[in-house]
Amino acid sequence: MFYYFDELPSTTDEARGVKYGHGDVVVAEYQSAGRGQRGRVWHSPAGLNLMFSVVLDTSFLRSIEQFSLLRAVALALTGTMAEWGLDARIKWPNDIYVGDRKLAGVLIDHTNGEGGMLARSGVGIGINVNQLSFDPMLPNPTSMAVELGREVDRGEVLRRIHDRLMAGLGDGNAERYHSKLYRLDTPALYLTSEGELFTGIIRGVRPSGELMMERTDGSIEEFLFREVSFVI
Ligand code: BTN
Repeated sequence: MFYYFDELPSTTDEARGVKYGHGDVVVAEYQSAGRGQRGRVWHSPAGLNLMFSVVLDTSFLRSIEQFSLLRAVALALTGTMAEWGLDARIKWPNDIYVGDRKLAGVLIDHTNGEGGMLARSGVGIGINVNQLSFDPMLPNPTSMAVELGREVDRGEVLRRIHDRLMAGLGDGNAERYHSKLYRLDTPALYLTSEGELFTGIIRGVRPSGELMMERTDGSIEEFLFREVSFVI
C-alpha cells in the first residue's frame, strides 16, 4: 500500500511504525526534518520532488550482506531513470548521478534481528523530480525536469521504482551495479578522510561494499564509506 502524507518530520521515522509491512511505501510531500547521509539534512521544497521510504522484510538477509540491498536499490533507481531516457550512474555507494550532478540520494534504516540477520529495513529515497532551481549552497544538484526539459509525473516514477525494487530484491546484482558505477575506470580526484588528495581510478566494489581504487603506482586500495570522498 502507498501511504501519502502532506507533511512528516521524516518518512524514515514514520516507516518504523508497526502498521507498515513488507512493500508498503510512506510518501511525504514535505519533510520538516528530512535526513541525509553522514548526519546531513535532506531539504526539499513541498510538492515538486519525491521523498519516500519503502518498508522491506529483510529477515532473509544476513547483516553482513546488507550491501546487496543497497545494490538492488541503486539499480531500481538507475533502471527507472533509463525508462525516462536518463543515463543515471551510481556514485558509490548509492548516490544517483546524471553526469556530474546529483539527482537522488538513498538512506537505509535497518532493524537487526537475531543471529546476525536483519529483520526489517526502511529504504529512504529522495529524488529531485520537478525542481528547477536549487539552493546555491548545494554543490551540484540536478533534477529529472532539468535534465529532460519537461515536467515529470512523480506518481509514475514512484510506481516504477517500487515495481523494480520489489522485483529485484532477491537478485545479487553485483555485475549490473558494477557496470553502472559513476567514474568507473576513469582517472579522477579523491580525498581521503585523513586529508590526502589523490588521483585514483575506481576499479570496482567488493561484494561487501568496499570501493576498490587503483593508485597511480598500480596498487589497489580498498575504502570503506566515509574513508574517501569524491572531488567533483
Ligand atoms: C542523501 O544524503 O543523499 C540521502 C538522502 C535521503 C533522503 C530521503 S527523503 C525520504 C527519506 N526520509 C528521510 O528523512 N530521508 C530519506
